[in-house]
Amino acid sequence: MENKQEILGQYFTKIEIVRRLLDLLFSYKKYDNKIKILEPSFGTGNFINGLNEKNYLNIDGCEIDKDLSKKPCDFFEMPLTKKYDLLIGNPPFSKYNLKESYYSLKNYIKSAIWPSLYLTKKELKKDKEKIENIFILKSLKHIKDENSSIGYVLPISFFIKNKNKSVKDEILKYFSTIIIYQNDKIWFDRNIPCCFAIFANINKLKNKIIVIYENSIKNEEVFDIKNIHEELIPQVIFHKNNGYIKNDKGVPLEEFLENKNIKVKKSYKENNISAGNILEKNKIPANKLVENYKLAVVRVGNASVGKCGLINIKDDILNDMFYIFDVKDQYKKNKQIKETICQQINQKIDYFRNITCRVGSKSIKKEDILNLKITA
Ligand SMILES: C[S@@+](CC[C@H](N)C(=O)[O-])C[C@H]1O[C@@H](n2cnc3c(N)ncnc32)[C@H](O)[C@@H]1O
Repeated sequence: MENKQEILGQYFTKIEIVRRLLDLLFSYKKYDNKIKILEPSFGTGNFINGLNEKNYLNIDGCEIDKDLSKKPCDFFEMPLTKKYDLLIGNPPFSKYNLKESYYSLKNYIKSAIWPSLYLTKKELKKDKEKIENIFILKSLKHIKDENSSIGYVLPISFFIKNKNKSVKDEILKYFSTIIIYQNDKIWFDRNIPCCFAIFANINKLKNKIIVIYENSIKNEEVFDIKNIHEELIPQVIFHKNNGYIKNDKGVPLEEFLENKNIKVKKSYKENNISAGNILEKNKIPANKLVENYKLAVVRVGNASVGKCGLINIKDDILNDMFYIFDVKDQYKKNKQIKETICQQINQKIDYFRNITCRVGSKSIKKEDILNLKITA
């Protein structure tokens, strides 16, 4: 198969990462060594090896690629009668621009394991869906009882606000504790933004979501389970809590800026303002009307996100990379305040880079800017 690595999502979790993930899981959920475990897409066997090191030996494995397994097995063909105390591993992830990497319903319509037994109504209506989501949905049908858990490496995009709602709702039918772990290490031979999600029932953490970002220390934040559809990306939450928003002295920008949509002239062909030159536009020229100047903040782009400039609403043409803000009425003719806000946003570009994570391209929300504190 050409492009096999991409289609089958073959990136293998480094053994030192696997060891950390196993330690984390077993620190929250105690299991004896006899439990029955499934690694549903074992690849080169890193999770199985890590488990063996800890003397967990009662493990079933499944792997579709005949080059990696003597007995290749498609997880979606595995009988649902097989039940496990723990399902653990790193399922394949679909790539948005690679059709073959998705789960396709028509491939399984004649299967002995009917997709209707593990898909929700929502997924049954689609002809294709992200394979990691279907791995989760089918895994839920393999859990043995309420003491069972699932620990999967997932793309970080899984926990973006309001994404994958039907899958998250289905998870909550089985589990009342969710632990989401991210650290500052690279987990594969490629840098793919991901996390380790543990779905479990843990009495003292009932109805809780634990979000952990580990750098030199383990930073933990606890949320009520009703926040499941919010943005739960550990690295972003860590930087928001430790960055300017919570700790900085000063006044949030929402005190100075209107939260309104502002129309500007836009064109990708004729624009004179782009992320490339916005930093040069940090002053209002002496011969121009101050009230025509608005703040433009770059909203997307790995290197440019958070850059700010002052644009002239009458003369300038922008591309679609910006959020535009105007100051409140009392500051509309105040050149100094506009220039100060622009300068202070630019001093905090690192903050904007840190509170967004690379899923395709970095992007920030309007409220991230309005919440930023400045000292005017
Ligand atoms: C991201 S890799 C992870 C491998 C291993 N769990 C690890 O962490 O090192 C995903 C693996 O899933 C396998 N795979 C893809 N689709 C599968 C399916 N339907 N059933 C079983 N394995 C599958 C791929 O061949 C690949 O080896």
